Amino acid sequence: MEMTMMAPCLFGLERTLKFELGRIGAKEITAEDGRVFFKGDERILLQANLSLAVAERVFILLARCKATEFQDLFDAVSAAPLERYIRKEDAFPVKGSSLSSKLSSVPACQSVIKKAAAKRLGAYYHTPWLPETGVRCQLQFSLLRDDFLLLLDTSGDPLYKRGYRLDMGLAPIRETLASGIADLSGVRADSVVFDPMCGSGTLLIEAGLRAKGRAVGAYRPFAFENYFFLSRTLVKEERALAKEMHRPSSFSAFGSDIDPKMVEIARKNAQRAGLSDCIKFSVKPVKEFSADRAGILLCNPPYGERLLDLEAARNVCTQLGDALSHSKQLSAAVITPASDLEDSFGRKADKKRKLYNGMKPCTLYLFKAEG
Ligand SMILES: C[S@@+](CC[C@H](N)C(=O)[O-])C[C@H]1O[C@@H](n2cnc3c(N)ncnc32)[C@H](O)[C@@H]1O
Repeated sequence: MEMTMMAPCLFGLERTLKFELGRIGAKEITAEDGRVFFKGDERILLQANLSLAVAERVFILLARCKATEFQDLFDAVSAAPLERYIRKEDAFPVKGSSLSSKLSSVPACQSVIKKAAAKRLGAYYHTPWLPETGVRCQLQFSLLRDDFLLLLDTSGDPLYKRGYRLDMGLAPIRETLASGIADLSGVRADSVVFDPMCGSGTLLIEAGLRAKGRAVGAYRPFAFENYFFLSRTLVKEERALAKEMHRPSSFSAFGSDIDPKMVEIARKNAQRAGLSDCIKFSVKPVKEFSADRAGILLCNPPYGERLLDLEAARNVCTQLGDALSHSKQLSAAVITPASDLEDSFGRKADKKRKLYNGMKPCTLYLFKAEG
């Protein structure tokens, strides 16, 4: 069955996501700010969940229209083919968000959508009462400048929850963002990657998963596993294929951090991600960092909020800049919300990209190797 799907992503990662969707064979891929629409069948739906590294979720699009009155919502939901995905006994909770839209009350929209969905399903199954005791089919709506989307969540937990990061520090970077940074910095199958303030190791682990062509969701559970419209055999097949996914790679990585607890956590995370053979960790302050070969430095330094005060954070960035200036064969990608990184480094970035770490606006500073 052909479906239209939508995967939200962090702002700035739409192009990476389009590329990943093209690689799994999705069709009619179009990007808008923070989300990418595409078409495909059940296999594409499963592969999108199992392997997209920068998508936050995968939804099936059930309805889309311009909505300025509650009646618009009611009509759009009443016309959506809900029974294709939701059985008589299944639960269909509704949640959503409204931004810059005439219909601004989320609870009021929720209630209208719920009523319309219950009416449609009740009429289809010839019952005035739907028990909602079965599988949870989460309906989600989005209203953005009066553009209404009705969606069915197929992921369950957000896709950044890969399953390998059970422990983390105070300021971990989101896995989807780390993977996007690895892509934007040019990590390839044969890359050597460094992170001298590695915290829980996310940047190196995501770089490794990307370099090795692994399906990032191969070992985690998904909401789709309980959906009746997907055959168990197909789900099993795609999960098995995802576990096998890899490409030949000589990737290696080196992580260090001043905090021995973080280094221990990073080691365990890399082990759970199946990357302990290619990522080495050590306890070391950034000022002692140096690289003995060409490679890519990825870093998310502390920025004076949760971890260090502003002055100390600036100091650490200066030390990072110094270390980099002594390792001329390294290119670098440094993400921070601080606007003065180039001052601390005493060097202009070759490229800058606006990205979001969750809701926090950040800049990714990209530096070419000097030597
Ligand atoms: C924002 S966190 C990095 C988070 C990491 N990307 C992750 O996903 O967990 C910054 C890290 O810098 C480390 N750090 C702070 N000062 C340092 C220094 N002088 N040398 C090395 N590491 C330092 C902290 O211990 C912390 O783990």
